[in-house]
Amino acid sequence: MNDSWIAPSILSADFARLGEEASKVLSAGADLIHFDVMDNHYVPNLTIGPMVCQSLRNYGIKAPIDVHLMVKPVDRIIVDFAKAGASYISFHPEASDHIHRSIQIIKDSGCKSGLALNPGSPVSLIEPVIDSLDLILVMSVNPGFGGQTFIESSLEKIQSLKKIIDKSGKNIRLEVDGGIKTDNIGKIAQAGANTFVAGSAIFSNDDYKSTIDLMRKEISNIS
Ligand code: DX5
Ligand code: ZN
Repeated sequence: MNDSWIAPSILSADFARLGEEASKVLSAGADLIHFDVMDNHYVPNLTIGPMVCQSLRNYGIKAPIDVHLMVKPVDRIIVDFAKAGASYISFHPEASDHIHRSIQIIKDSGCKSGLALNPGSPVSLIEPVIDSLDLILVMSVNPGFGGQTFIESSLEKIQSLKKIIDKSGKNIRLEVDGGIKTDNIGKIAQAGANTFVAGSAIFSNDDYKSTIDLMRKEISNIS
């Protein structure tokens, strides 16, 4: 793994062939699998749960699985995902009554912890818990659907979070999720992100490798 990670969101993959899709996108150079969990309550869409995560592990997927929980309540399902082979688990602070407790449950389950910030959520939500985080997930669209347009004001939020992370001296991944394409990934990297979720941009074209290669090229052009 190099320091910039590409995390394809399997939300845009063919659900009837999920194991094959995950395996194919990893062979094409992806670093981790982004796994979007939606509950038709916290967000207006319904996707996949811990059994599907376990199925990917049983199929032989060894790469980190980056579980993005868009569910409310949060706590009970964390343990199920940890048992099902999740590596990272992120949740939205608005979906938890006790943010610090939810993070501790993730860590006690042996997973890396992430907090997800919606476009309308302030950066300040991070500060009280930054010492317990392994990842911050900046939503650059409103959660619930793939294929939406990147919200430009996310760039400023990424810059602020990058400064906060650097100041903390902690090794925290800065992940961005929503509307990332080959033509905007460069400026998102420039703003300070190092982990890039992309669903429709990767899965809408059969040649996953050429999309991922181009994304990496755009990222490396900035440095
Ligand atoms: C949206 C999800 C995203 C989504 C991204 O709620 O969290 O991970 O799959 O899809 P694209 O890359 O198509 O915007
Ligand atoms: Zn996501």
